[in-house]
Amino acid sequence: MKYDVTPATGKLGILIPGLGAVATTFIAGVEAIKKGIAQPIGSLTQMGNIRLGKRTEDRYPKIKEFVPLADLNDIAFGGWDIYEDNVYEAALNAKVLDLPLLQSIKTELEVIKPMKAVFDQSYVSNLAGTNVKTAATKYDLALQVIADIENFKKENDCNRVVMVWCGSTEKYIEETDIHSSIEKFEAALKNNESLIAPSMIYAYAAIKTGVPFANGAPNLTCDIPALLELAKQTNTPIGGKDFKTGQTLMKTILAPGLHARALGVRGWFSTNILGNRDGYVLDHPDNFRTKEVSKLSVLDEIFRPELNPELYGELYHKVRINYYPPHGDNKESWDNIDIFGWLGYSMQIKINFLCRDSILAAPIVLDLALFMDLAKRSQMSGIQEWLSFYFKSPQTLPGLKPEHDIFKQLIKMQNTLRHIMGEDLITHLGLDYYQDLVEAM
Ligand SMILES: NC(=O)c1ccc[n+]([C@@H]2O[C@H](COP(=O)([O-])OP(=O)(O)OC[C@H]3O[C@@H](n4cnc5c(N)ncnc54)[C@H](O)[C@@H]3O)[C@@H](O)[C@H]2O)c1
Repeated sequence: MKYDVTPATGKLGILIPGLGAVATTFIAGVEAIKKGIAQPIGSLTQMGNIRLGKRTEDRYPKIKEFVPLADLNDIAFGGWDIYEDNVYEAALNAKVLDLPLLQSIKTELEVIKPMKAVFDQSYVSNLAGTNVKTAATKYDLALQVIADIENFKKENDCNRVVMVWCGSTEKYIEETDIHSSIEKFEAALKNNESLIAPSMIYAYAAIKTGVPFANGAPNLTCDIPALLELAKQTNTPIGGKDFKTGQTLMKTILAPGLHARALGVRGWFSTNILGNRDGYVLDHPDNFRTKEVSKLSVLDEIFRPELNPELYGELYHKVRINYYPPHGDNKESWDNIDIFGWLGYSMQIKINFLCRDSILAAPIVLDLALFMDLAKRSQMSGIQEWLSFYFKSPQTLPGLKPEHDIFKQLIKMQNTLRHIMGEDLITHLGLDYYQDLVEAM
């Protein structure tokens, strides 16, 4: 079946709560790519190919030629932050990109000024800013964000908008009764309940107005029944949580390989140093807890110790993040993995990844924004599990275990694109044409 996909005509607005390192690296990157001075490396929507049909057909178009995606020249950027810096100034502060590159796109970046944020310091104790909205209730704050979205759309002549949360990681909270239905959630907004986080207010405003919402941080945000129900009501695609970059990216590449070969794992110790503002926020135990939960979930789902207690029943998994200012955004991670093989003999793997956090995250923001917009134009709503590929802790329907294996996530994403466009799904069985080839030899 081919979906009835509305064409990507007109302008797409990408609205971002949190114009920090990731968001500014993303926006600056797109502007540089538009000028032809850089390449969109790491972005599947821009550089990836997809196989169609049988292997014998040799059809491998670029993803962006296969599915109708917004063109980079048709994007308008906007966002909110608790600091008043425009995107050029914020990018300079983030110290991810070189000065000559930033200067070449200064005019484009300077005009993007953050709207006043919805902020509550009890959720991010290590930050304080002045560019913040005030209102009597959280419900009124949500109405202000809805008005921001509408104004942005008008001022930038956009016919569609998506929202991607790139704000700081909020403190750890768990779902409670106030998150269980739209009715209770709206009552809680009006009663200023403390367990309604700022990110939930942005998510509510987006979903209420049919704007697709993706959550790049590990916060609960739209992963609550109330907002899922709202997404169904307003036919809005949603997804999260936490961009899959750095150490967790490596983990979900390596762990499926060990599991595939039935090798045992006794322990996996992961530690990081990073010195950007994200690292500073995560230095607070309440915020680190949110990240820790997101990072820890990965191995359990890949190894499924309940199915193979001999191989993974004793697995000890520890994750540490250490704030270390001299490294800035250039995160360094170490993994020590204690594995065992035939007859239980021990082996070790060491990984030392010197990565650049925001360089890995920026193409994810781009792909999520473009695919969320595609989902909306394809009348897909609710949790977009096919975008799990991009998340450390993919949101699923209650009762379903998320898929963490990056290769299964890729197959699911590619098959979803084929499904949307009415192409055959690829099972990699190949028997249907293999026999013909053997006979033709
Ligand atoms: N860089 C990565 O590889 C990566 C990977 C996964 C997840 N993340 C998450 O993405 C988020 C952004 O990371 P970053 O490195 O850009 O951090 P950052 O600290 O540079 O930027 C976050 C920005 O959000 C702003 N902010 C905080 N609360 C806000 C609110 N309520 N409304 C509007 N703005 C708000 C802060 O002022 C800051 O400018 C973090 O939550 C981080 O954990 C990053």
